[in-house]
Amino acid sequence: MSYHLFGTTRSIELKNEFGLIIGLFDEIGLIRSGAESQTRGSEAEVAIQNFPPSQQLQVLGIKPSDSNSSHNKEDSTMVPTKNVFIGIIGVGGVGKCFLSQLEVLSKRLAKNPSSPKLSLVLVSRSSKVLYSPEYQALPFESLATKVTESTQKPLSLTEAIDFLSAAPSNAILVDNTSSQDVADQYPQALSKGVSIITPNKKAFSGSYKLWQDIFSAAASSGAKIYHESSCLAGLPVISTLKDLVETGDEVTRIEGVFSGTMSFLFNSFAPLEGSGGKWSAEVSKAKELGYTEPDPRDDLNGLDVARKLTILARMAGLPVESPTDFPVQSLIPKELESIESGDQFMQELPKYDSQMEDLKVAAEKEGKVLRYVGSIDVAKKEIKVGLEKFDRSHPIAALKGSGNSISFFTKRYGADPMIVSGAGAGGEITAMGVTGDLIKVLERL
Ligand SMILES: NC(=O)c1ccc[n+]([C@@H]2O[C@H](COP(=O)([O-])OP(=O)(O)OC[C@H]3O[C@@H](n4cnc5c(N)ncnc54)[C@H](OP(=O)(O)O)[C@@H]3O)[C@@H](O)[C@H]2O)c1
Repeated sequence: MSYHLFGTTRSIELKNEFGLIIGLFDEIGLIRSGAESQTRGSEAEVAIQNFPPSQQLQVLGIKPSDSNSSHNKEDSTMVPTKNVFIGIIGVGGVGKCFLSQLEVLSKRLAKNPSSPKLSLVLVSRSSKVLYSPEYQALPFESLATKVTESTQKPLSLTEAIDFLSAAPSNAILVDNTSSQDVADQYPQALSKGVSIITPNKKAFSGSYKLWQDIFSAAASSGAKIYHESSCLAGLPVISTLKDLVETGDEVTRIEGVFSGTMSFLFNSFAPLEGSGGKWSAEVSKAKELGYTEPDPRDDLNGLDVARKLTILARMAGLPVESPTDFPVQSLIPKELESIESGDQFMQELPKYDSQMEDLKVAAEKEGKVLRYVGSIDVAKKEIKVGLEKFDRSHPIAALKGSGNSISFFTKRYGADPMIVSGAGAGGEITAMGVTGDLIKVLERL
């Protein structure tokens, strides 16, 4: 027989393997188990250090309570602290910001005995992993560096998922990569009861089969999946659309500027005030300021916007097969499509400035400005991504800097759409969406 201890810093419960409470204790020293077991959690190890080895307990990170504490009466009826084990894949720009937000959240939750106790037990990069085989919480200090310097044998994605699914209680996988390989594993993780939160678009904008497999795995296992930051970082785009759909509103059209990079480029190239620079010069400036991907073609091909629209269209009920299933206007000149390196592309781009200049001048002749937008017409099942001309008074024309703006036209909102706008990129605000998702999962586990 194996016993599991659950508790807060002020109360301890002993449960048998069926989860039935078979004892409430004020002091850990009152509990003995003849069964072979493991110790987990440094606090628990300290607490049971006087036990003979033959009488080890399986302990989930608790401290003995103070029997004289004034809290004890209240504690005897308290729900035991829930332990939640967290694994993070990806510690780049977003991952590092998420790590620091997770530390703040863990400390805040630790102050409230009825909140879950978060134990970060795995952090990995492409070829490095740091994890605690005994499910002891990894200390947050210098964690990103410790992962890079780790000498632990890397785990395959399947091994990492198996490790999390074998955790003593609920586990959450945080995918902070942009990897398709990681995204492809979501159905497996969810079916094993591991919840997922992620800013990675790949799972939701890849094949429609993967989308279906993900949500059916979550429905059958009860594991949760949240991906707010997969579309415009921390802006509440996914949750807003989900609420509209699930409360029975009819979404008729979604349109807007879905890329901070494109927004920045067109607000500089075709501004409301002044004339803007040459197209290639604006692309160079955006690259230097860090607004584009290292290879700007990854922004200019429109695929990133197409992926976001694929996610939103599917949520609105359209079974979009893939982000290449609808027209996407690439801003890479045809002549430069097969060029090899990003640097070479940037060198050649000025030769084709007239293509974009002609489009800008044509819009100006109509008193309009060019903007790169996406739209979903739900009734007509039409999705498109590309350049459009907007009246100078249109809210999309008036966006500033790298601002994004998404309008949700619905039956309830009529002609006055719900609009979500603001910055849609950046480590801290993307991580904020991920941390917000974590809080939602914790509330629902
Ligand atoms: N940055 C933003 O403003 C923003 C906004 C919205 C959404 N997002 C999304 O957020 C995610 C993360 O973006 P980021 O800017 O943080 O990317 P990043 O700086 O490139 O970091 C990616 C991290 O993922 C790791 N990684 C990649 N493939 C992996 C694999 N197969 N297994 C394990 N680890 C792997 C990388 O490890 P190595 O370094 O060892 O390769 C790195 O630590 C992406 O999906 C992105 O689209 C970002």
